[in-house]
Amino acid sequence: MNRRVLLASRPTGLPRVENFAFDSAPIPEPGAGEVLVENIWLSIDPFIRGRMNAGPSYARAMEIGEVVVGGTVGRVIRSNVAALEPGDLVQGQGCWQQYSALRVADASELEPGVLPTWKLDPQAFPARFALSTLGMPGLTAYVGLHDIGQLRSQDTVVVSSASGAVGSVVGQLAKIAGARVIGIAGGPQKCSFVAHRLGFDAGVDYKAPDFEARLRQACPHGIDLYFDNVGGTVTDACMSLLNTHGRVVLCGQTAHYNMESLPPGPDRSLLLRVQILLGRLNVRGFIVSDHWHRREQFLADAAPLVTSGRLQLQEHIAQGLDAAPGALIDLLQGNSFGKVLIQIAPESGE
Ligand SMILES: NC(=O)c1ccc[n+]([C@@H]2O[C@H](COP(=O)([O-])OP(=O)(O)OC[C@H]3O[C@@H](n4cnc5c(N)ncnc54)[C@H](OP(=O)(O)O)[C@@H]3O)[C@@H](O)[C@H]2O)c1
Repeated sequence: MNRRVLLASRPTGLPRVENFAFDSAPIPEPGAGEVLVENIWLSIDPFIRGRMNAGPSYARAMEIGEVVVGGTVGRVIRSNVAALEPGDLVQGQGCWQQYSALRVADASELEPGVLPTWKLDPQAFPARFALSTLGMPGLTAYVGLHDIGQLRSQDTVVVSSASGAVGSVVGQLAKIAGARVIGIAGGPQKCSFVAHRLGFDAGVDYKAPDFEARLRQACPHGIDLYFDNVGGTVTDACMSLLNTHGRVVLCGQTAHYNMESLPPGPDRSLLLRVQILLGRLNVRGFIVSDHWHRREQFLADAAPLVTSGRLQLQEHIAQGLDAAPGALIDLLQGNSFGKVLIQIAPESGE
C-alpha cells in the first residue's frame, strides 16, 4: 500500500495540522511514458501554501482530497520509459506519498508549475541536493540573479530570507561574482550564519527593533539589486534604500502567503509606486518553471561550486512522512533553519 498525505481542507491563514489527512491507497500503476518511483526525499517549499488556496495562480490549485504537491527524489522500481530502468534515481513531482507514478516528458509538455522528472547521476552529488542548492531553489537563485536581476560585480545586493534555500544560494552566487552582499534573516543565529559561514558582507536581523537603521548602516552606498523573497516590512525597508535605476527581483512574498485579504488602505502601494517611478526602478517578477531550459548551464556552473565547498548549504532534515505537515507550518513561520527535507525511505533501498 501507498501511504499518502492529502489536503483535507483549505487553511484560513497559517495552515494547521488539521488541514492535512493521512491515508493508504494501492500503489499506483505506471502508465505509458511513466515510471513507478519509491520516494526517498521530499522537499518542503513555501509554494505549497499557495496551492492550498482555491482560485487561479500560475499553477493549478490542489483539490480537497488530493495528495499534497511537492518535489521528490526517489528510486525507479518499474519503468515504461526507455531512458530509465529500475534502480535509477530520479527527481520529480512525486508529492507527499511513498510511491508515485511520474510522467517523463519534455518540460514544455507539462502542466504549468509541474516539476519535470529528471534522471540523477548518483556519482555527481548527493541525490537530495537535487531538491535544494542543485535543484529548483538553486535554479531560482541562479535565474533570478543573472537572467532577471542582471547581476554586476560592482552591485550591492540585498537578499531577504537569506539563510533559506533560495536566499542562501543567491547571496553566495552574488559573492562569488564579486558583489557586496547583505543578507536579511530572522534572529542572530541565522544572521551570524550568513555572515560568518556563508561569507556575506553582513547579516541583518529583521526582528531587531532597530532593523531599518542596521540595514541602512550595512548599505552605505544604497542597494543596487534587491532579491525579494518575503515582501512585507522587510521589502518596505529595502525599497527606500534602492539606488536610482536599481533592480528588484520579485521572487517570493512569504510574509503574505498566509494573509486572508490585502492590508487596508491604498497608501502603502501608492508609496511603492512612487518609489518605483522616482527611482526609475526595474521591478521584475519571474517563475522558475518558465526557465527549466537553463538547468543544464546552471548545473554546469553550480555543481563544481558545491563539490568544492565554495557553495554551501544548510539542511533541516526531518524523518518520516508524518513530519511533513508540521515541517511546512514551521517553514512558513521561520521556525526551521535551511532547506527543509523529509526523508521518507532509506537511500540504499533496503
Ligand atoms: N519565483 C519562483 O519561481 C520561486 C521559486 C522558488 C521559491 N520561490 C519563493 O522564494 C522564497 C524563498 O523560498 P525558500 O524555499 O528559500 O524558502 P525559505 O526562504 O527558506 O523559507 C521561508 C522563510 O520566510 C521567512 N519569513 C516568513 N515570514 C516572514 C516575514 N513576515 N518577514 C520576513 N521573513 C519571513 C522566514 O525567514 P527567517 O527564517 O529568516 O525568519 C522563513 O524561514 C519563497 O517566497 C518562495 O515562495 C519563488
